Amino acid sequence: MTALVHTRAELQPFLDGFANGKRGVVMTMGALHEGHLELFKQARHDCDLVVATIFVNPLQFGPNEDFDRYPRTLDDDLKLCAEAGVDVVYAPAVEEVYPGGQPIVKVTPGPMGETLEGAFRPGFFTGVLTIVNKLLNLTDPDKAFFGQKDAQQLALVRRMVLDLNMPVEIIGVPTVRDEDGLAKSSRNRYLSSEERATALTLSRALFAGQEKATEGADAVRDAANAVLERTTATGELTVDYLALVDPRDFSEVPPAFTGQAVLAVAARAGTTRLIDNLPLTLTPHGAR
Ligand code: PAJ
Repeated sequence: MTALVHTRAELQPFLDGFANGKRGVVMTMGALHEGHLELFKQARHDCDLVVATIFVNPLQFGPNEDFDRYPRTLDDDLKLCAEAGVDVVYAPAVEEVYPGGQPIVKVTPGPMGETLEGAFRPGFFTGVLTIVNKLLNLTDPDKAFFGQKDAQQLALVRRMVLDLNMPVEIIGVPTVRDEDGLAKSSRNRYLSSEERATALTLSRALFAGQEKATEGADAVRDAANAVLERTTATGELTVDYLALVDPRDFSEVPPAFTGQAVLAVAARAGTTRLIDNLPLTLTPHGAR
């Protein structure tokens, strides 16, 4: 049985019950899917108490973004949490999370939060880091689980925990995809069948790039761009960025770079904005 609580006071007895055990939290905005499920499974495996938070955080949505239309499916979400063995769902009201109204003190990500997603969504990572910090304070876990799907978010959360000496272990979980490669996302439910077919270009581009990892950074970018260009030429897809970055700071890697990198893409199919990425290892290569 999964319990549903809406206030910190209601959550407290669950936390007290596992004061000597491992407590895990999975933070979500609801509209749960198999990607979230994987995080719950990992948490269930690693922890004695699994808390899932469901909160559509107004602070991380820009004025022209989809806060109002973001899917809210609490009944279905609870069923999925129960199947995954989540102990308690904490779904607070905006007033509990933001007791002082619009916060004056926020967590700012610095330059690493201003590239890629941060460049296209000003203030987004300030909103994300502020809510993650708040939810860590409210749920007080030993471990918190985040998806590699949002690679820049995961990297910034790790960096916040390091830079602010926060007593929590951050666990990254690999991206869950549909069989044809499309990364699972709450926003996929906005897509028409034509737009879904277009959206597949993102993962195809990433896999094409990954295949060139032994040929160097430029070859990876070229292969991925070639796949994207076919769909952008028809106007069905608008690419915000394709980037091959160093996962430590999300800066573009130079041509001779070797080691762990992340190939990341963001694009719009119709009015739906999607992101995806693949981790890859660039190996030493000859001159091209
Ligand atoms: P949301 O988009 O609901 O995602 C919640 C968590 O699920 C994130 O850690 C995300 O990376 C992970 N996730 C989403 N799709 C996934 C997939 N296909 N495979 C693996 N993991 C996946 O990310 C947020 O919410 C918010 O920014 C939040 C951290 C909750 C702060 O508001």
